[in-house]
Amino acid sequence: MFQAKTYIERRKVLAEKVGSGLILLFGNDESSMNYADNTYHFRQDSTFLYYFGIQHPGLAAVIDVDNQREIIFGNDYTIDDIVWMGPQPTIAERAESCGVSNVLPLNRLSSVASKTSRIHFLPLYRPENKIKLLELIDVAPKDVANTFSLDLVKAVVSQREFKSDEEIVQLHQAVDVSVDMHVAGMKFTRPGMTEAQVCAEIHKVALAAGGNISFPIIATINGQTLHNHYHGNTIKEGELFLIDAGYENTMSYSGDLSSTIPVSAKFTSEQKDIYEITLASHQAAVDALEFGKAFKNAHIAACTTIFDGLKALGFTKGNAMDAFEAGAHALFFPCGTGHMMGLDVHDMEDLGEVWVGYDGQPKSKQFGLKSLRLAKPLQAGHVFTIEPGIYFIPELIDLWRGQNKFNDFINWDKVDSYRNFGGIRNEEDFVMTKEGVKLLGKAKPKTIKEVEALRT
Ligand code: GLY
Ligand code: MN
Repeated sequence: MFQAKTYIERRKVLAEKVGSGLILLFGNDESSMNYADNTYHFRQDSTFLYYFGIQHPGLAAVIDVDNQREIIFGNDYTIDDIVWMGPQPTIAERAESCGVSNVLPLNRLSSVASKTSRIHFLPLYRPENKIKLLELIDVAPKDVANTFSLDLVKAVVSQREFKSDEEIVQLHQAVDVSVDMHVAGMKFTRPGMTEAQVCAEIHKVALAAGGNISFPIIATINGQTLHNHYHGNTIKEGELFLIDAGYENTMSYSGDLSSTIPVSAKFTSEQKDIYEITLASHQAAVDALEFGKAFKNAHIAACTTIFDGLKALGFTKGNAMDAFEAGAHALFFPCGTGHMMGLDVHDMEDLGEVWVGYDGQPKSKQFGLKSLRLAKPLQAGHVFTIEPGIYFIPELIDLWRGQNKFNDFINWDKVDSYRNFGGIRNEEDFVMTKEGVKLLGKAKPKTIKEVEALRT
């Protein structure tokens, strides 16, 4: 973890921003798979990590703004726990490491919480924490979404969105290992293997680096399915193979990269043509990133570059900006150009995209644009991904063609002839600075020449 002063300062700022009342933050518990003691990989809550840095299950904390008191609640290991799981620092020792001097057993949380009229809590996502809230202050799980503290959400977002220098060091390291994961997968993939074998090769790099994956690995011949977690297919000559994977380091900072490779040694000429358009849209998005200017500009640049690139190949027709406004580009690119990244791979998504990515402004409801997670002006310390792609989704092609949708923008016969093409995405991670945008981590191979060089 960082030094205690980092967490002390973060909590001081949070208390000032929230102003009054009691801030209640839950850590995460172990989560069981098929019986109580058989648990998933433990992942601490990111906001809890941000303010307390403690990677340990079963904790809660309060910041009593009115009385300027901070308490961490948790139970020390019993001798039975120690026999099975080994000795552990005490809760008091853990609390000291983040500058908190008061600790109490978990069952004392109710007595502290019941004395306060205004309790600020976040929009909880874990059922067990919702149940704890119910027991503590009688808020039913179904009511959490309408009763969480917007003041607390806004205060947390306003701190976590700006990555400090020490966080940027962590993010560079997380992306560096993410690049290693991709290069391993890009070199390893061969016809005749299953997707699962490639997935294991990529995951191995993350585990060997001491951390883990930042989200379930996507390693697929069906890159047109945006979040494809099925790994049962056998990989064949001539196919495209899409990898979307990232490292989460020991401090829980994420990387998030995507690559697309030919299964054969070289791309076919059809694959090259579409690949070059995705690279051009990637570069257009990066070129549109300006300090103080909206991230949405990068999205518009990516979408219109895809539309114009596909127009040159005969897939589309008409004006790219008109097509973007109508939503026609979303036939090929039905999602967003990027999202914030930090302690979560989709940073703070649990706190609400409208606060994280839109400064509270309403999001578009249009198909495609509604999936853009980040649109607001970029400031120094904002960390985000750039990940435009081109996807041929047979079900979407059939649906929209059947509805005679976008006949002014789409050459349906040409599109239909590519219905089994698959999908291509490249993704990199960036930080905005006052001097402009900077790539996080080392460069990942992405030009056709660089990718094919790894395939020999
Ligand atoms: N890399 C997964 C995602 O951005 O959704
Ligand atoms: Mn991403």
